Amino acid sequence: MTEFTDLAALPQDFAWGTATSAYQIEGAVAEDGRSPSIWDTFSHTPGKIAGDDHGDVACDHYHRWREDIALMKQLGTNAYRLSVAWPRVVPGGDGAVNAKGLDFYDQLVDGLLDAGITPSVTVYHWDLPQALQDRGGWPERDTAHHLAAYASAVAERLGDRVKHWATLNEPLCSAWIGHLEGRMAPGATDLTAAVRASYHLLLGHGLAAAAIRAAAPDAQVGIVNNLSTVAPASDRDEDVAAARRMDGHTNRWWLDPVHGRGFPADMLEVYGVELPERPGDMETIAAPLDWLGLNYYFPAVVTDDPTGPAPFARQIERPGVPRTGMDWEIDANGIEALLLRLTDEYGARRLYVTENGSAYPDVVRADGSIDDRERARYLEEHLAACARAARKGAPLAGYFAWSLLDNFEWAYGYDKRFGLVHVDYATQRRTIKGSGHRYRDIIRAHGERGATGNAA
Ligand code: FCB
Repeated sequence: MTEFTDLAALPQDFAWGTATSAYQIEGAVAEDGRSPSIWDTFSHTPGKIAGDDHGDVACDHYHRWREDIALMKQLGTNAYRLSVAWPRVVPGGDGAVNAKGLDFYDQLVDGLLDAGITPSVTVYHWDLPQALQDRGGWPERDTAHHLAAYASAVAERLGDRVKHWATLNEPLCSAWIGHLEGRMAPGATDLTAAVRASYHLLLGHGLAAAAIRAAAPDAQVGIVNNLSTVAPASDRDEDVAAARRMDGHTNRWWLDPVHGRGFPADMLEVYGVELPERPGDMETIAAPLDWLGLNYYFPAVVTDDPTGPAPFARQIERPGVPRTGMDWEIDANGIEALLLRLTDEYGARRLYVTENGSAYPDVVRADGSIDDRERARYLEEHLAACARAARKGAPLAGYFAWSLLDNFEWAYGYDKRFGLVHVDYATQRRTIKGSGHRYRDIIRAHGERGATGNAA
């Protein structure tokens, strides 16, 4: 196994966390006033999800959250990234707030704080109330305003105890995968709808950031993007141009506007869709951020694809490159490169790795243990790369492993397991995997170095 060598590069008050999201773990989809979200609809549409799985029960975290906090403690983590379910809090999408929905998060936050675990709350992790989808969803401007009203209700209730807020998780997936590729809810394949959705998601981010700050003045507000390093498959001019487009589609489209640079002009040309822009929007979108969140899983090596969908660039499969159980290429250098890019190109003042992890088909041994060496290695290699980035000046303040638990992996259902903790879905029994023990040891080693002030 790779030795983890440079823990001293990470600050003493580093946030060591795990991450989850509401629909992927909570279950209890019809309890205490929760309404359906687009993911309930999508997952109950035959053929959309592997095995026709859905989140009706998931990890039953809604009832087992105390046990799950105990697991976080056993892992030695001091932070936890969760998302709040919009359909629990504002079941109609806009209008009345459901106090019972907020009660759940209220007690969860208290439980975390009692356990010495700092909550980091993501307001929107893809579970748009179906009621808003029925009125047009993200392609409609009103949805951005409804997000802000919902964010305000959450921040008013939790903001006295929660300081760390993200507006959106991976708007790329909501817009491009949900509205262009159709592989995620709501399952549309329409470039105009996708571009409009992307615009309103970022507008919603800006409005929600302001709403959170108004309700909780000392809130630290950020946004979470999934980014990839992008390289051309060859040095052909066509592939180099394709890589530039893919970088625009995956990275710059999401980073430039929130940094006050507007939407990338080259991509506006590639999409050929007019933005639904109104005066003042770009300033709203570019509200100053306290931190940036990076979700990193894989690099992209792309070739020109003139007949494919926008951005007319296709990821290729390189033979011989190691892959996870998702078939995603493994390249820990990518996380280092992206942290440094956010630092150097975008002037990030505080960075978190808000997700990083790997799925593998776990084998439960006769004694009940799970010796998931590949996941442990992925974790170590990526943490080592994070430490390299920190050593080179990236202001990295924390790392959240995806995920605390095996859970509902969207279109892949329960088949793909990302947890540091194994979940037996028949019994809801949780078992810390080898990778979870390894994470605990790394966290402990970092704490001991910090305490003694040892350098690497
Ligand atoms: C990210 C999502 C997260 C999880 C991981 C594997 O794109 O934010 O919910 O599904 O991928």
